[in-house]
Amino acid sequence: MSTPTSPTVLTQDELKTLVGQAALQYVVPGEIVGVGTGSTVNKFIDALASMKDQIKGAVSSSVASTERLQALGIKVFDSNAVDKLSVYIDGADEIDGAGNMVKGGGAALTREKIVAAQSAKFVCIADESKLVQTLGKFPLPVEVIPMATQRVIAQFAAKGGVGKVRQKDGKPLVTDNGQWIVDVTGLQITDPLAFEAEVSQWPGVVTVGVFAYQRAQVCLLGTAGGVKTLTF
Ligand code: 5RP
Repeated sequence: MSTPTSPTVLTQDELKTLVGQAALQYVVPGEIVGVGTGSTVNKFIDALASMKDQIKGAVSSSVASTERLQALGIKVFDSNAVDKLSVYIDGADEIDGAGNMVKGGGAALTREKIVAAQSAKFVCIADESKLVQTLGKFPLPVEVIPMATQRVIAQFAAKGGVGKVRQKDGKPLVTDNGQWIVDVTGLQITDPLAFEAEVSQWPGVVTVGVFAYQRAQVCLLGTAGGVKTLTF
């Protein structure tokens, strides 16, 4: 009689590796690929090294991703030197059932939105903990010009949100663009498009971490049962 085996439980890190590898199927040979930022994207970048001779290179959304890509011998292009990209691969802090996302946990939201906007398709790679019914569970990152910080925090307070300047080593974290991040808790973002449109217009806001205009068309979700593909 055979002994029943218990199902293997994958760690969050293993789920990230799985979706990072699965994203290779969306990379178009002969082209330049848009690359996001974060621990899940790092797995994708590592996997991308296996096909570096089949692509022209990448447009990167952060200094950290650029350094990782270059260390693996993948050429990085300035986004201004490239017209359109077929695909952009990036993670998310939250994604809902329509492909709307909250991003910016790695403070790279502005460049992520720029590269996403120049790409025809956004493929989100995430483990299943990121799937939510309504955006707002994860603190919403907003990149702001430092002198506007208190005013922006007050505007979020009027919406029931509590904003705090993200710190690093006891000082405000400075983004790749020389700005600060305000993380906002207590929000329920029921209309992501309207929310993104409104907050994007507040003076001093560089980028709000709601990605509704640049939402995902595909999400590769790492689950206990393997990689699940969601299309929106
Ligand atoms: C960085 C991001 C990341 O995509 C997001 O924070 C998810 O990161 P991770 O893959 O490490 O969970 O938006 O600004």
